[in-house]
Amino acid sequence: MKGRLSKKSAHQPSMTVSLNSIATAKKQSGEQVFNFAAGEPVISSHAAVIKAVETGLKRGHVPYAPVKGTLDLRKAASLWMNSCYSANYSVEETIVTNGGKFALFGALQALLDEGEEILLLAPYWVSYPEMVKLSGGVPIVIQTEADSGWKATPELIKKHCTPKTKALLLNNACNPTGALYTRQELQKILELAQQLGLFVISDEVYSEIVYDGEFVSCAAFPQFASTTIVIQSCSKNFAMSGWRVGFAFAQAKIIEAIALFQSHMTTGTSLVSQWAAAAALEHASEISSRIKRSMLHNRDLACSLLKELFSAEITPPPSSLYLFLSLNQLQAAHTSAADYCMHVLKTRNVVLVPGEAFGTKGYVRLAFSCAPEEIAEGLRALKNASTGE
Ligand SMILES: Cc1ncc(COP(=O)(O)O)c(C=O)c1O
Repeated sequence: MKGRLSKKSAHQPSMTVSLNSIATAKKQSGEQVFNFAAGEPVISSHAAVIKAVETGLKRGHVPYAPVKGTLDLRKAASLWMNSCYSANYSVEETIVTNGGKFALFGALQALLDEGEEILLLAPYWVSYPEMVKLSGGVPIVIQTEADSGWKATPELIKKHCTPKTKALLLNNACNPTGALYTRQELQKILELAQQLGLFVISDEVYSEIVYDGEFVSCAAFPQFASTTIVIQSCSKNFAMSGWRVGFAFAQAKIIEAIALFQSHMTTGTSLVSQWAAAAALEHASEISSRIKRSMLHNRDLACSLLKELFSAEITPPPSSLYLFLSLNQLQAAHTSAADYCMHVLKTRNVVLVPGEAFGTKGYVRLAFSCAPEEIAEGLRALKNASTGE
């Protein structure tokens, strides 16, 4: 209809991005805000990253980068996957994208025809359902439970398959629960996917932020390589969220399809960011270890304070940047997590994301990637909200 926006424009905006904007606006107006909404390690760029950008800029003109990314960065990214995660990717099986987000979007565009289904495991990352819908697909949500470590079994996955199911979207390590799949669990899920003729999109953007146990990539199973798409990013693993550099790894045919969408939609990733990412990958283990050390400290601080203030027994998540807490654990009497989050934002300037955004009611997500002082003060403010002090 003339004068009206498209139906697509009515899709849900990302709730984490919206809450983060409210928090930023409050901060800009001088209020003290405890921002537990944004999951991004706040750690300065490695000196090599700055140097690579300075050197590149001194050359003068910054042209378009190749659509699939510079050869240097694609080589560095595939070598990193191969050496850290027992993958076997060539440069042709590697594409650089605008963050992990566009790698996911490109993969969905490459796989989905109108009405085909994608299996999502709830609690899921906020953008998954909307990305699937925007790509013409239908998200089929499989609820996982706290008692089973927020993980899905092949049996549970199989129950939700129909002739229209095209792929499983797996998030390992998981935002928001920190769930981490073992090698055996992944093997069984990948076997099932193969039996059913499904693709597996494995979102592994927290692969380096693993505190307990071993991170195993879906790329480590060569027998399933032709139907596996691995999504990676510099945002969390190298604390480079603002640079907007991500990757997809998959068989060359899929990479070509993602490149086609990328060529029409973004043209690719800024060359300046690609210089930065290539430098980060040269120092990958040093950068990631630093992030992991600092986030582990934050995780343990948050868990011990929650125990002290709320008498809450929290099982520390084995990975990622988040605690997924029940309203009970926070002594919140609110009927919905969305109400509780709005209450603590308005009255205490504490920003949490309600479980509804992740497809799971009765929970909130607390990102512990901010400064330790903010964690301590913010949790005290949260306690005061529950006691009415
Ligand atoms: C599970 C998951 N996947 C993908 C992304 C996208 O990250 P980026 O686009 O910053 O690389 C995020 C960001 O929060 C995430 O949590």
